[in-house]
Order: sequence, then C-alpha cells, then structure tokens
Amino acid sequence: MTVTAVIGSQWGDEGKGKAVDFLAEQADYVARFNGGNNAGHTVINQFGTFKIHLVPSGIFARNTVGLIGGGVVIDPAVLIEEIEMLNKAGVGVEGRLWISPRSHLIMPYHKILDGLYEEAKGAGATGTTRRGIGPVFADKVSYNGIRWTDFASNMFESRLQVQLELKNKIIVALGGQALKYEEVRDAYREYYLKLKPYIRELFSLVQDGLKANKNFLLEQAMGTFLDTDWGTYPFVTASTTIPSAASAGLGIPPRYITNVVGVTKAYTTRVGAGPLPTEIKATDSEVYKKFGEVAATTGRVRRVGWLDLEVVKTAVQISGVTELCLTKLDVLSGLDEIQVCTRYELSCNPVRYADVDSYGLEKVEPIYKTVPGWKEDIGQARSFEALPANAQNYVKMIEEAAGIPVKWIGVGPERDATIRR
Ligand code: GDP
Ligand code: IMO
Ligand code: MG
Repeated sequence: MTVTAVIGSQWGDEGKGKAVDFLAEQADYVARFNGGNNAGHTVINQFGTFKIHLVPSGIFARNTVGLIGGGVVIDPAVLIEEIEMLNKAGVGVEGRLWISPRSHLIMPYHKILDGLYEEAKGAGATGTTRRGIGPVFADKVSYNGIRWTDFASNMFESRLQVQLELKNKIIVALGGQALKYEEVRDAYREYYLKLKPYIRELFSLVQDGLKANKNFLLEQAMGTFLDTDWGTYPFVTASTTIPSAASAGLGIPPRYITNVVGVTKAYTTRVGAGPLPTEIKATDSEVYKKFGEVAATTGRVRRVGWLDLEVVKTAVQISGVTELCLTKLDVLSGLDEIQVCTRYELSCNPVRYADVDSYGLEKVEPIYKTVPGWKEDIGQARSFEALPANAQNYVKMIEEAAGIPVKWIGVGPERDATIRR
C-alpha cells in the first residue's frame, strides 16, 4: 500500500491536476482534502480539457474511487455542475464519487462577505478568488458552519435562520443587500437532494481501504506557500495545505502517508497579492510573455517569476516531500540564459524564508545564479536522455538543491507529455 500526497511546492497552480491525472493510474482512491472551489486544476487527457474545482483530478482513471474529504468546503452549485460536466464527457462518476457529510457548505453570504471584506481592505486586499473561502472556514472554526449532516438531522433550517440573521446584519451594515431566508433555504434543499446520492460517511471506506492495502492518492489544493500557517500570511488561503491537512481532512493517520510528491513549476507564478521575491515585473519582456498564464478559476493574469529554490527547499522541508514532479520545463525552451534564485539575503546577511514574515519577504534580495538555456523544442521528449544537456543540467540543479529526485518532468500540458524517470 502507498498513501501518496501530491502537493504544490510554490504558490499554487504548479500543475497538480495534471500530475494527479497521470499518477492516478496506480491508485485505488483519489481524494481532495483541503480548500474548496478556489482551486482550479487543469487536466488534459483522452476525455478532453477540464478545469476542475472540487472533484479529485484522478477520477478519470476508470478504477479509482473519488473522495471529497471533510476538510473540503463545497459550493454545491459548482459541484453539481462539475459532476454533470464529467458525466457528459463520459467520465461516469456515479457510484464512485463520495462526498463527506462533514464537509462544510459555502453559503451565498460567504461569497458576499468575501467580496465586502476585500473591498474594505482596499490596497491591502488579499486578492482572493471571491469564492467565500475565508468566511466559510471562519464559520467552520467558530462553530457557525453548515454541513451536509445538518440536512439529515433536520438542523439545516434552524441553523440557517440563525446564520442569516447574523450575516444579514453584517452585510447590510457594510452596504450590501440582505438575503431572503426562503430563497436560500429552497435553493440549498434542492442542492442537497441532487447531491444526496453522493454523500456518504467516509470513515469505514477509508479505514477498510487502509486495512486492505489499497493505494491512496491525496490531492492538495493551493500550494505550500498559501498555507494559513506557513504561507505568506495574510496573503494566504484559509486552509492548511501541507500534507498534515490530508490526515485531518480525510481521517488518515499521519504515519500512513509514506510518499509526498512535490509538484514544482520550472519557474514561479502567483495569483493575487503578497510577496513574490523573484517576480519579473517587466510586462513587455520576452520572458514575462513566455511565462504568462491565465488563472484556471478566476481568469486573472498570473504574476510570474524565476524559479525560487529557497521556496522549493522550504516546501521540501515543511511538507516532507520525497520526490519532485517538475512541470512546464518546455516553457523555458528558447531562452539564452535562465535566472534561478538560490537563496535570500536581507541587509547583506543570509536569511531563510521562514526567518521573515510577508512584509520582510518583500525586502529580501533574491541571490541569482545564471544558467545557460537551450533552444530546442522539448515537447516531444519522452526520456531524460532525449533532453538537451542544458535542460538535463537544470533538472539536476533542482535535485541537488532539494536533495531529492525529480521523478517526473512535464514537457507539455497533456497527460502524455511527461518524462517518467
Ligand atoms: P494546478 O492548480 O496545480 O492543478 O495547476 P493549474 O492547472 O491551475 O495550472 C497549471 C497550468 O500549466 C495549466 O494550464 C496546465 O495545463 C499547464 N501545465 C501543467 N504541466 C505542464 C507542462 O509540463 N507543460 C506545459 N506547457 N503546461 C503544463
Ligand atoms: P490551485 O489549487 C493559486 C490564492 C488567491 C489569493 C489567496 C486567497 O488551483 O493551485 P482564497 O480565495 O483562497 O481566499 O484566496 O489564495 N489562491 C490560489 N492561487 N492557485 C490556487 O489553487 C489558489 N487558491 C487560492 O489568488 O491570493
Ligand atoms: Mg490551479
């Protein structure tokens, strides 16, 4: 049995969706354990191109059972749409996708509050996805959340009434419009009835699977540096993203997690506000245009930067990464030279990521090493040996810095555009 967590070692969008899609060939269970539909995971395979927000990206492998753990927060309308989209694409999910009744529901007031808080913060805003993530997790830990179990125990209506009364007061005070109880109640009852066939306590399923030596693939949402505790607070997301969250979010004891795949983009991107020490700000430069991406969830333009090895090394340490999956190496093709940040300095003294907070990180000086690039298109390479020498050296440099092997190398967005070592 292996229990493998797949985590992003940067600020999200490392290519976790693609990695989980191809790793799922070996899995019995594929699971999401944190975050919500702030995630946007791209999968490109024989079924088509998908931007997935809630269903585990490993669902395309025929023999997998998909789990959405209690640590995930769910916007039911988004999940229903996603299930319908997958069924339509021929990826039948009925009878093999299970939602924990412990998961919390994103309510309309969470999304409204997310927006109102962002606007109130003005220039200091987080740049959230406005999917209600901060407010729903705040309600979860302050005992104000609404879960699927509330429908079965007939608590939904009374809990909603209390919450709406509270939330409407805040919304109106902040200049928003009060929500109508009957409308919210009826919409969510409808969602519940649609999703009821998928809702099932995961405890026995997970425990029986562990006992039967099944293979689990645990898919993180967001990245290590958006983690509430270890990320660039307050420019983070509202959930724990490091592998320990997989334990809490799914009920898998930590000692079972044997492998941690760190998905690492060959450069760095970030969406929203917060420090990005290696950021490339020249929007008219060749490299900015090369690295440019559009966010899978919000359609915003992603900020870009050079590869930051201090960040990758820290992720390997905090998340106990055992092997790396390097993505988007193909995007670097064509550059004469590539900059790589090997460490930080603050006032001419060496400093580690964890020694400074977000505001300190804005001031650190990334120390760069310049390495030679390669001109060849590597999109068709399927073995390490087929890569140009400089591309091989780039991979070896990352392995050396991280102290662990790069086992997979992405040379294109499709499932098959992957070198397996
Ligand atoms: P996730 O949130 O970590 O799943 O990542 P996203 O899907 O948000 O963003 C990653 C982007 O990179 C998507 O557009 C993927 O299709 C794309 N991608 C992933 N791996 C590769 C790769 O090796 N090469 C190229 N060119 N694109 C890739
Ligand atoms: P995946 O799983 C990149 C960022 C937002 C914002 C901050 C807080 O696709 O890698 P939130 O809506 O969570 O309250 O926003 O976190 N963020 C992501 N950035 N990829 C993601 O997910 C993200 N999910 C949230 O841009 O800066
Ligand atoms: Mg993404």
